[in-house]
Amino acid sequence: MKKIYKWGILAPGKMSAKFTEGLKLLENVELYAVGSRDLERAKQFAEEFGFKKYYGSYEELAMDSEVDVIYIASPHSHHLEHTLLCLKNKKAVLCEKAFALNSREVEEMINEASEQKIFLMEALWPPFQPIYRKTKEILLGGEPGKIIHLNARFSFQAPYNPTDRKFNLELGGGSLLDIGIYPVIDALYFIGVPTEVIAKASYSETGSEDSISIILGYDDGRMATLYSSFRTAGGIGCDILCENGNLLFSRERDMSQRLNVALNGKENKEYSLLPDGMGYQFEAMEVMKCLDDGKLQSDVVPHSFSLNLINTLDRIRKAAGIVFPGRD
Ligand SMILES: NC(=O)c1ccc[n+]([C@@H]2O[C@H](COP(=O)([O-])OP(=O)(O)OC[C@H]3O[C@@H](n4cnc5c(N)ncnc54)[C@H](OP(=O)(O)O)[C@@H]3O)[C@@H](O)[C@H]2O)c1
Repeated sequence: MKKIYKWGILAPGKMSAKFTEGLKLLENVELYAVGSRDLERAKQFAEEFGFKKYYGSYEELAMDSEVDVIYIASPHSHHLEHTLLCLKNKKAVLCEKAFALNSREVEEMINEASEQKIFLMEALWPPFQPIYRKTKEILLGGEPGKIIHLNARFSFQAPYNPTDRKFNLELGGGSLLDIGIYPVIDALYFIGVPTEVIAKASYSETGSEDSISIILGYDDGRMATLYSSFRTAGGIGCDILCENGNLLFSRERDMSQRLNVALNGKENKEYSLLPDGMGYQFEAMEVMKCLDDGKLQSDVVPHSFSLNLINTLDRIRKAAGIVFPGRD
């Protein structure tokens, strides 16, 4: 019989609501407990989604001996603190992106997980999505040939609000860790770790970065150009330009996904791939599969991928001059 996992939600904000909709699609999940800094918010979230218990502190959630796994969706500035809290209390952790503010913090999280022998995974949406799997499958099939250039973007117009975590430097604000991480994931996932990083950013009134352009260089002449911004409505997409044609994919804010494959001398192919719901359930499924198998990390999002990702983000920030005061 399949084990039913008791999930806890740490920080019941906007993302936790979306993730919980994903959890509700799964049979081996019990919506067990919610932990908020505010008891009333925890209660409201628990009642809205049908969680059994709620707590007015993250500590109480982490210390509940019944909880099997905790999903962390606080601002990135707090992921280190909250992940350590859960791991020290022997709870498996699925923690939102960006995993933390910098490599040092991510290394600390991974070291703690290894020491405690507890499962830890960064909640990365892309590698589990049908569009990424189809694109990878076509590239590995060999017909497109070598990737020459990758161009990826993620931008939407966010109303300026200095207290919003997107613009608040103390909460890790800026487009790079919030949405620019996706174009960076595209480059790492499809090409790999770059040898060279060039970047230029613009800044909001709080001093948080609000737009960034990035060039990644690879030894063999391959390149990636990446862009993220809170100032433009450029949408979400990635163009992979190869020796024998192009693979172009995009997604809408509702997570619906489209892939256009235009290979030289072949008829164009268009794939429209829709996950159930918003596709967050795949990450939860992977966590529970790993726990069933007694694994401490996922093969889909291994610790090494998260380390490569945060190292690349650090290099981009350094190249563009983006600093999180007191945390760099
Ligand atoms: N994977 C994705 O597609 C995706 C999409 C959006 C966001 N995210 C990630 O999810 C995380 C949360 O984003 P969100 O949009 O859900 O943010 P949000 O709506 O602002 O919620 C964050 C929650 O964190 C808690 N929190 C703890 N310390 C805080 C502090 N000092 N200031 C403000 N809030 C604090 C708050 O809950 P309580 O006070 O109730 O405890 C708050 O509700 C971020 O890391 C973000 O990058 C991922």
